[in-house]
Amino acid sequence: MRGIKTLEELNIKDNRVILRVDYNVPMTNGSIIDDERIKRGIPTIKKLLEKGAKSICIISHLGRPGGNYTPALSLKPIADHLSKLLNMPVNLSLIDDFNYEAKIVMLENIRFWKGEEKNDPEFSKRIAQFGEIYINDAFSVSHREHASIVGVPLYVKEKGIGYLFHNEYKNLKRLIENPERPFIAIIGGKKARDKIGVIKKLSTKVDKILIGGGLTFTFLKASNKEIGKSVCDYEYLDETKKLMESINNIELPEDVVVVDDISTHKIIKTVDINSIPENWYGVDIGPKTLIKYQRIIKDAKTIFWAGPMGIFEIEEFARGTRSMAEYISERTKQGLFSYIGGGDTIASIKHLGFSGKFSYESISGGAALHFIEKGTLPGIEILRG
Ligand code: 3PG
Repeated sequence: MRGIKTLEELNIKDNRVILRVDYNVPMTNGSIIDDERIKRGIPTIKKLLEKGAKSICIISHLGRPGGNYTPALSLKPIADHLSKLLNMPVNLSLIDDFNYEAKIVMLENIRFWKGEEKNDPEFSKRIAQFGEIYINDAFSVSHREHASIVGVPLYVKEKGIGYLFHNEYKNLKRLIENPERPFIAIIGGKKARDKIGVIKKLSTKVDKILIGGGLTFTFLKASNKEIGKSVCDYEYLDETKKLMESINNIELPEDVVVVDDISTHKIIKTVDINSIPENWYGVDIGPKTLIKYQRIIKDAKTIFWAGPMGIFEIEEFARGTRSMAEYISERTKQGLFSYIGGGDTIASIKHLGFSGKFSYESISGGAALHFIEKGTLPGIEILRG
């Protein structure tokens, strides 16, 4: 990483470190549902301690409180959980009541302060008082021009990146710079708006783009097909149409699974994409599509997969996602480089029992897409030099 220091290159000993992490984890009623992001950041914290950091001030956001103190989004359960994982105290502090004595302090949800999202320089200076060295280990939020990402690093002595940041960066780089070919992208998920830019960019880099999941129906609608009550990003139909006209390496499903009602799903059938019944809901890709897609993937050397193929949380609609996961994980064993990314994709492979079976399982959703589209992130550029 040109001009950006790693943990190995920084002189940590006896310095106070400000560590930006992304503990924006799924929670229900104050309980952590999935601690993957917290666990993946542990090697950086351990390394900082091992290298003799005087103290570590951990900064994260959780949810989108919009600059207001919101008890339900407090980092208290996360601080307690981290303390268990590290087997040492983690002290939750407010900015005005900072605990200068503790070895590890976690600042309360940084988005409780308005200065964070406004990237207010005065706010950044206040935070920068908590350390001499700033480390970003939050690649997944480095597309945001927020104070804790692009402001604080301006006011410290030294800055660099942690292991998790570096891994996310290296694997994305490998994917977009000289990937082994054939290179296939599989794009699913619900919203076309989040994916149009990245599909456009990817189309210049990959051999083929395979569309699945809810996204299918925006593409079908944009091709003037009947989609019943399937999910569709209606505001982005024109954009989708333009995108389809401008690229020629995109593949759409040939058949889909449809249901009369998503929650009761009494009747489930597979139909050709030209015969989706009025008032029915598309919920998965069909078997013909699976065969077609697996034939395309068969000889791939590199795969980028973002977005499930259907509503994987409901067993009857999980077949498309499961079959793709099975196929890609088998091919990974034979040497394919498979990069799986995005919150829903990672949740789907976890849910279906495929975690750990791909070359890299990225925890950066929006940031990774932003990186592919723009080639860098604000949180990377600020660390150079
Ligand atoms: C994420 O979960 O993708 C990151 O933490 C960024 O969150 P945000 O979209 O609320 O900025």
